[in-house]
Amino acid sequence: MQTVYRLPTVRLTDESTRDIAADLIVVPAFEDDDFADESELDTMAGGAIGRARQSGEFKGKAFEVFVTTLAHGAKAPRAMLVGAGARGDVTADVLRRMASTAGLAARQRRIPTLALIQRATSTVPADAATQAMAEGILLANFEVASYKTGDAARGWIEAVALRVANPTAVAPALERGVVLGECTNIARELANEPGNVLTPRTFADRAARLAGAAGLQVDVLDEQRIAELKMGMLLGVTRGSHEPPRIVVIRHEPPQPLDGVVLGLVGKGVTFDSGGISIKPAENMDKMKDDMSGGAAVVAALIAIARLGAPVRCIGVVPMTENMPGGQATRPGDILISAEGKTVEILNTDAEGRLILGDALWYARELGVTHIVDVATLTGACVVALGKTTSGLFGTPPAWVEQVRLASERAGDRSWPMPVFDDYKELLKSDIADFTNTGGRAGGAITGALFVKEFSGNLPWVHMDIAGTAWAEEAKPYQPKGPTGVAVRTLAELALDVRSWVKLDS
Ligand code: BES
Ligand code: MN
Ligand code: ZN
Repeated sequence: MQTVYRLPTVRLTDESTRDIAADLIVVPAFEDDDFADESELDTMAGGAIGRARQSGEFKGKAFEVFVTTLAHGAKAPRAMLVGAGARGDVTADVLRRMASTAGLAARQRRIPTLALIQRATSTVPADAATQAMAEGILLANFEVASYKTGDAARGWIEAVALRVANPTAVAPALERGVVLGECTNIARELANEPGNVLTPRTFADRAARLAGAAGLQVDVLDEQRIAELKMGMLLGVTRGSHEPPRIVVIRHEPPQPLDGVVLGLVGKGVTFDSGGISIKPAENMDKMKDDMSGGAAVVAALIAIARLGAPVRCIGVVPMTENMPGGQATRPGDILISAEGKTVEILNTDAEGRLILGDALWYARELGVTHIVDVATLTGACVVALGKTTSGLFGTPPAWVEQVRLASERAGDRSWPMPVFDDYKELLKSDIADFTNTGGRAGGAITGALFVKEFSGNLPWVHMDIAGTAWAEEAKPYQPKGPTGVAVRTLAELALDVRSWVKLDS
């Protein structure tokens, strides 16, 4: 495999646009922009910017790109204007996407060194802008074509200077942005791997190596240990596969943790989901190599949490398995007994995610977590409900759901709350066992969440369904086709911001 992302050097500077030495200067441009704060720019461009605005070639609409040569005293040979929409509506997310757009456009042109200009806005503080722009640039330095043997379609960004008003003030924000961007790419790299390369064992090995290198404590439970713990639901999913399951447990133990809080992060790690005996149609089955995106997000988020020193104890639990048909596979009608003791009638072997999450949530509780967030590519129904850009949030109490939603908003991972009313529970009624593993088509994302809730032990719990958001099917100026790394930054932001939600409970 070729590297799928690169880490550019990133530095802060307060040099003037005229004095920055880079292959390309990136300037965010707003609609109706007079560039009062960059008055030399159009002079250096020989008037090309004014002409492009006049003719309507470049309007400053979000993520439009305009490249012009510079002369007349500028050290850099070119400038790229990237549209950022109306100045009054700019958010950190717009700046993140603006920086990604610039990075992808520069890579397309094989331009390796960039300078990004940060312009003051009334809506985004300088530190949030710095973090978001750093994240955006790192997200652009990711490549999905990791197994192509020919020439790469795009170059890499090697060095970035971020021009800000006060470099010292925003240095911590830059660090945060670089780490969060890099960790998002770690998750994308894992999700991009095909099922024959990333098996439960290799996923566990890679997760352990990456987490260990970040100073986290790692435990890998093998099939024997999983059997001793009587995780009948996880084992039931694995039965049809020749690949043994794993559970990776990752601990972040900061030197001075907040008292009484242990954040539990659980991620679905199905390295390939064929559906099992209830086999999926052939069309698009290849997409199911990314059914471990939630697990990858948990691993990568914990790496970010460790590197940024979040002041809260965190425990990540990632159950890893394939879901395959075979002579030993679990059949529809079979009964599985969870580690907690609850019994499940399997009606559809393709509803496997909730089974492995249930045993993993129980294990996280055994390890002493006080708050739970699980992340999973759980249901096609969630894609129907919310589409490809918004993850579903399910959970209780509402204040905890809202904390996760706020973290996702800061992270640029859109998410929105969905109901978990008890009324839906009757859809999981079984004649023979405690409940079934599917509730039918109606409210499919909700019944999936309610199944997982059965194993949350009444702790504050949020389930994030990323079935629609984990993989981008269409390229955008700011995002290539492929794995998005959704939820990595949400989980890290949640842990970093622990002081704002811990007081909720007291
Ligand atoms: N991994 C799938 C969910 C999925 C579907 C993710 C589409 C991404 C895109 C999950 O294991 C699954 O198969 N869910 C079933 C549940 C059903 C059988 C109750 C589904 O959504 O069809
Ligand atoms: Mn499935
Ligand atoms: Zn699945």
